[in-house]
Amino acid sequence: KKLAVFVSGGGSNFRSIHEASKRGSLHGDVLVLVTNKSECGGAEYARNNGIPVILFSKAKGEPNGLSPSNLVDTLRKFEVDFILLAGYLKLIPAELIQAYERSILNIHPSLLPAFGGKGYYGMKVHKAVIASGARFSGPTIHFVDEHYDTGGILAQRVVPVLANDTAEELAARVLKEEHQLYVEVVEALCEERVVWREDGVPLIRSKE
Ligand code: GRF
Repeated sequence: KKLAVFVSGGGSNFRSIHEASKRGSLHGDVLVLVTNKSECGGAEYARNNGIPVILFSKAKGEPNGLSPSNLVDTLRKFEVDFILLAGYLKLIPAELIQAYERSILNIHPSLLPAFGGKGYYGMKVHKAVIASGARFSGPTIHFVDEHYDTGGILAQRVVPVLANDTAEELAARVLKEEHQLYVEVVEALCEERVVWREDGVPLIRSKE
């Protein structure tokens, strides 16, 4: 399968997916990287690894970003099957969601629906988890709809919150699981093991 990854930051999830793909364990290839920040770590990693970088942004100082319909056309040219958001902080426009129905995934660093939605990103998520007294957190991978963090939940992994955790310590513990979980989920996606329950909840069939 052909994959596009969207990043705004360091891109460690992007890197782990790309490395898994290079090992041949994914049945998928990252053909293109989309970013709203041309100088972010993820974009740099893409350039260093010969992956084309596309700027998609309306932000100030990034005037050359594509429009949503141009982005859809470009992704079609690459024959992209699935879009993976990996630390991409912008809302995905409706046009893209309609063009890639049931084909866009996001990873979020809390157990959704807790600690999700607009405003819950980066360290803010982990600070809120610690402040709440929750004893468990962990990554969620979900399909993307027009809102932040509300699409169908596909996979989660539980990580303990320790008594004296700082947000940074919790973030690192969650991130480690993110890398493994995203690779496993993308593997399932590429092997067509994602199935949809009648009520619209996505599930992963285990390998036979
Ligand atoms: C991850 O914690 C992810 O869950 C969130 O943004 C962070 C991205 O990290 N959406 P990285 O850029 O993949 O290192």
